[in-house]
Amino acid sequence: MAIQYDAGQRIFAIQTRNSSYIFGVNERDRLQHLYWGAPVSIMDCAPLLRLKSHSSFDAEVEGEAEEYSFWGGVCYTEPSLKVRMQDGVRDLSVSYSHHQIIEQGGKETLIITLKDRVYPLETQLVYQVIPEYDLVERYARIMNTGELDIVLESMQSAAWSLPCLQDYRLTHVTGKWSGEFQLRNTGLTEGKKVLESRRGFTGAHANPWFAIDDGFATESGGGVWFGALAWSGNWKIAAEKTPFNQVRVTGGIHDFDSEWLLGAGEAFETPVFTGGFSSTGFGGMSRRLHQYQYDYVLPRNEPGKVLYNSWEATYFDVNAKDQIALAKRAARLGVERFVVDDGWFGQRHSDHAGLGDWSVNTDKFPQGLDELIGEVRALGMEFGIWVEPESVNPDSDLYRAHPDWVYHFETRERTELRNQLLLNISKPEVKQYILDFMSGLLGRHEIKFIKWDMNRTLTEPGMKDYPLNRQKEVWVRHVQSLYDIWSQLRAEFPDVEFETCAGGGSRIDLGIFRYADQSWPSDNTDAFDRLSIQEGFSYTYAPRMMTCWVTESPTGMNGRHVSLRYRFHSAMMGTLGIGSNLNEWSDAQIEESREYIRQYKDIRHLVQSGSQYRHTALRGKGVTAVQYSDASGSDHVLFAFLHSQKLGEPLPRLCLTALDPGKSYIIEGLEGSFSGRALMNIGVELPLRGDFDSLICRIREQA
Ligand code: DGJ
Repeated sequence: MAIQYDAGQRIFAIQTRNSSYIFGVNERDRLQHLYWGAPVSIMDCAPLLRLKSHSSFDAEVEGEAEEYSFWGGVCYTEPSLKVRMQDGVRDLSVSYSHHQIIEQGGKETLIITLKDRVYPLETQLVYQVIPEYDLVERYARIMNTGELDIVLESMQSAAWSLPCLQDYRLTHVTGKWSGEFQLRNTGLTEGKKVLESRRGFTGAHANPWFAIDDGFATESGGGVWFGALAWSGNWKIAAEKTPFNQVRVTGGIHDFDSEWLLGAGEAFETPVFTGGFSSTGFGGMSRRLHQYQYDYVLPRNEPGKVLYNSWEATYFDVNAKDQIALAKRAARLGVERFVVDDGWFGQRHSDHAGLGDWSVNTDKFPQGLDELIGEVRALGMEFGIWVEPESVNPDSDLYRAHPDWVYHFETRERTELRNQLLLNISKPEVKQYILDFMSGLLGRHEIKFIKWDMNRTLTEPGMKDYPLNRQKEVWVRHVQSLYDIWSQLRAEFPDVEFETCAGGGSRIDLGIFRYADQSWPSDNTDAFDRLSIQEGFSYTYAPRMMTCWVTESPTGMNGRHVSLRYRFHSAMMGTLGIGSNLNEWSDAQIEESREYIRQYKDIRHLVQSGSQYRHTALRGKGVTAVQYSDASGSDHVLFAFLHSQKLGEPLPRLCLTALDPGKSYIIEGLEGSFSGRALMNIGVELPLRGDFDSLICRIREQA
């Protein structure tokens, strides 16, 4: 049993393969966190369950480690739940009522019910255990069991209390359009560090996950406590340290400009916040999250196909003739899925018009989409298409007919971003419009892949026709409606795969990945810039969920020249795609690329399903190296990239990992065999030279 309860001690323990998560019910009948880390027992933690007070200014200090803190009384740290009752009372006084240990969705689940002492408000804290990956999924269900409305002002998913460490280092990512997933770390001092999005979607400026260690964890060793939130709208993760050295990370839907009216008998369920402990450093953290996503989060666990996307080749200038020519060349390369991007519908000749008018442009496709789809299928590929259903250009028939469908305030100008506005998709008629055109598109054509884009943030968040006292629900309603649309479409078209894109990587999180098979992490396709974007992505998200295209050199982004080989190697670290203008490629380029794609298909199972090991030892020498290994440890592939070499500075050897010291291995391209012991301790020489050099090499156990 992963979940234990000692009734005498009133202590709960969640025991996973390599961790313990322990809390108890204290004398105040409140849930007090006791321990999270390497395995211990309930009895080990029993002495920790006691009340603490420092002075009248710091009363109930044990509340700083409350499992889920209810705002009221002397709670001055980040609250997990803050409400307003109809009589104006804004103070919660909550105590433990009862709990159940059940099986839910194939997972051992603990549900603890807490009740307000006076008001008809119940909170269920739900813990679902993934023992093999040392993870716990947490969320809260808040229930109004009375007759009168209750307003939720903040309803967080979970609060994660850290054990007592000498120091606390927070690792997270930041970014911007075309520069997503840049890793950062900072020491936590007393106060709060807030990671957030208030833009209506997940955002590129931060991503909803955190990792905390004592400042000494490395890629391969040391304790790392981490969590990732499954929410694609406004979110907040607050890492707070108190003067009593208590660190707690509270996260969930952002409470900024947010309220939810909980009517009589209604319940609100927060998004899932998955937390975990790794005793094997940041690498161990990532591998746990990756395998968890493959096994528990993604809508299905299938290999990602090699795709071609015509965006950078033709931009808005798409037409049947050019796309068919591109498709013929893509098929020669060995591409498995051909995707037409923006520009195929309405009067969409640039980003100024047409968005919202989802009928095929017959000047561009005189015989409709089926001519192209037929050719693509005859060439042995699947067909995919781009859509951006949540947005509308003011210069569109849709907007002319329904100017009130967008978020706006009557007295304010409607901010246009990329010349577009955002539809209020929780309005029933708007939601139906999207469902209808998407069902029509997928029902009438042989489409197997949807790239779902979203190219602006939410501004002027007014919802016409919604009651005044529910206007602040907009941030949540947009996301709920989006999830609902995706889930309906997935149910209706189970064979269609979806990619999440928001002008690159602005909507990537565990919430959208319950519906999306893969994601577009950045519009920046420069193969070198991508290495750091991909690394930041890989801290939380699995390689298969990341689409990576090979595009032109020099790149449109920053004019950098890198070889075709380097571009392929960089893009082969996720789900491989090609985005170049193949109509301009020479036969030699096609042949060379064909060989890379063949090689990719050969190692795809390692990259897309294996365990990923980031090698950081040569980072100071400008080397990015990543190894992918199969579960048995007998098959591996190493990717290595050299940024630029200084004269006379040889590269030290790189020690491999995840091999069996007593076994022998063959390295592709090298004579003889090598012991696992030698490869892990003496390492291999990387034949990388000059600037922007790269290699891929396969390492297999000798039969
Ligand atoms: C932004 C996406 O990130 C690009 O890949 C492309 O699909 C464009 N939108 C199309 O407008």
